[in-house]
Amino acid sequence: MCGIVGYVGPREVVPLLIDGLRRLEYRGYDSAGVAVVADGRLDTRRAEGKLDRLVERLREQPLSGSYGVAHTRWATHGKPTERNAHPVVDSKDRIAIIHNGIIENFLAIKRRLLGEGWTFSTDTDTEVIANLVSSYYTGDLAAAVKRAVGELEGMYACALIGTGSTVGDGEEIVAVRQGTPLVLGLGQGESFLASDPAALIAHTRDVIFLDNGDIARLTRSQIEIWDRSGAAVKRPVTRLNWDPQQVEKGGYKHFMLKEIFEQPEAARDTFGGRVDFETGTVGFDALELAPDYVRSLSRIQLLACGTSWHAALIGKFLIEELARIPVEVDYASEYRYRDPIADASVLVAGISQSGETIDTVWAMEAAKERGARLIALSNVPGSQATRISSGTLYTHAGPEIGVASTKAFTTQLVAFYLLALYLRQQLGREVEPELLAPLAHLPQAISEALALEPEIEKLSRRYHTATDFLFLGRGIQYPVALEGALKLKEISYIHAEGYPAGEMKHGPIALIDEHLPVVAIATGKRVFEKVKSNLQEVKARDGKVIVVTDRDPAELDGVADHVLRVPALPEALSPIVSVIPLQLLAYQIGVRRGADVDQPRNLAKSVTVE
Ligand code: G6P
Repeated sequence: MCGIVGYVGPREVVPLLIDGLRRLEYRGYDSAGVAVVADGRLDTRRAEGKLDRLVERLREQPLSGSYGVAHTRWATHGKPTERNAHPVVDSKDRIAIIHNGIIENFLAIKRRLLGEGWTFSTDTDTEVIANLVSSYYTGDLAAAVKRAVGELEGMYACALIGTGSTVGDGEEIVAVRQGTPLVLGLGQGESFLASDPAALIAHTRDVIFLDNGDIARLTRSQIEIWDRSGAAVKRPVTRLNWDPQQVEKGGYKHFMLKEIFEQPEAARDTFGGRVDFETGTVGFDALELAPDYVRSLSRIQLLACGTSWHAALIGKFLIEELARIPVEVDYASEYRYRDPIADASVLVAGISQSGETIDTVWAMEAAKERGARLIALSNVPGSQATRISSGTLYTHAGPEIGVASTKAFTTQLVAFYLLALYLRQQLGREVEPELLAPLAHLPQAISEALALEPEIEKLSRRYHTATDFLFLGRGIQYPVALEGALKLKEISYIHAEGYPAGEMKHGPIALIDEHLPVVAIATGKRVFEKVKSNLQEVKARDGKVIVVTDRDPAELDGVADHVLRVPALPEALSPIVSVIPLQLLAYQIGVRRGADVDQPRNLAKSVTVE
């Protein structure tokens, strides 16, 4: 959950590390710190709170060096105080470590080390690794780490620097990965590491994703890697074609707004090159499911968390509708803790923007153990979910920095649409031109929905003081209602609930009065009239009604207080535009309430602890 970054090379290390941390702040942000070695001395600066506090500290007490590590923390063990901030230093002051993850047997090791005279000055499990490594350190840091990790249970990505190295020129960072993400960057005469490629792409696009159990030594001139057994290994270099500009705010006030406005392009990038409009075929580069295999499937299971889970609910709708294969959707965090039924007849897809959400990865592994074939639907090449899968359907959203997911969600919907069409095709059914043609208009339709921003900004003035919101949708728009409610909760801290419109009369109707804004999505033909009558029930109880629709607003006269009209698309694609006003509404209300929309309290972009 924390962000880690490291650098060894000719440049001044501290500004480079701080820049890396800025790009990782979304991973966690309750404290931050940096450690460097200069003139054979280990030095650290740490601060509680956001990164700016650390920057202030560094201004008062500057640090300089040419290699070092830095960390932004999301507390697991120990309160978010300066004392518990990383880097953590061993009690002999020789080794500094940054760590993302949890050491499950830290208490047993701590007891042993205490008995051997090691002292502890933090409440973190990380300090156990620092002292353990130090206890084995005789000048070869990688060798000490290799010995220490044999005793650790749990999940971790760590980077360590030390003084007194007797290997090479002594300038080195040692990194180890077990379960949590870690990526190395290759430069010209310099090397980088980070928990996320977003921190690296301003400097290099050539990256190496470590495997579980790998230990790496980074020096200016090379990166050496050993696997769990201690054997030297070569890991493939991945070239990321993310544009460094994409990780900057690009003139927008917040990453979230920038990412909302990137959706036309992100959608285009996700279907581009995968659809042959002339021949009516769909294909992917990193995913292939043979026709016989698809025919043999008894069902598909979709596993995900958060916004990705909402995308999966829409995925179910699309796959069942277009390919007629039964689909089950599970919260990944629930799936693993029952005895799920999965075997070789089940295709399991893990849906994860980051590909690193631990609940999703573990649930996927539980399915794999039972004999199911795994695929991933992810935005991050080389991420854990993609590595344990037999194939990946990538969304091409580019890096998503805002903690609340926006463009990742809509690109997941595009990807699901393609997957449903692909399965249909592999089953020998025709992918009719009318199924493919609307994709070409999709980016334009999203742009038109984005043009509602000024209208939504006005609405936010009216409703930002509400204490509760209800979101209603039916059919394919029900998950959109869930997503609208989640966005508002995350960004503005207003309590919001998403509900199937037809279920409202079985409970939430009791909440309705003149203070409750109700946001409904009423599009298309299938359930429009049904949703309209649900809204009449709201109006009859004086609720305030905001409707997102692709129909003529006149049809909602007397039912809606405000109508947000989005372009009409076939039902299967309509959630991609109907969610846009809900993202903007959450954003505008959040901003108006003074909330930190890019980094909402208590949330993290990528939840890599259970
Ligand atoms: C966190 C984020 C959400 C995200 C969820 C799943 O909770 O705050 O925005 O939807 O994780 O993330 P994933 O990377 O697996 O899609």
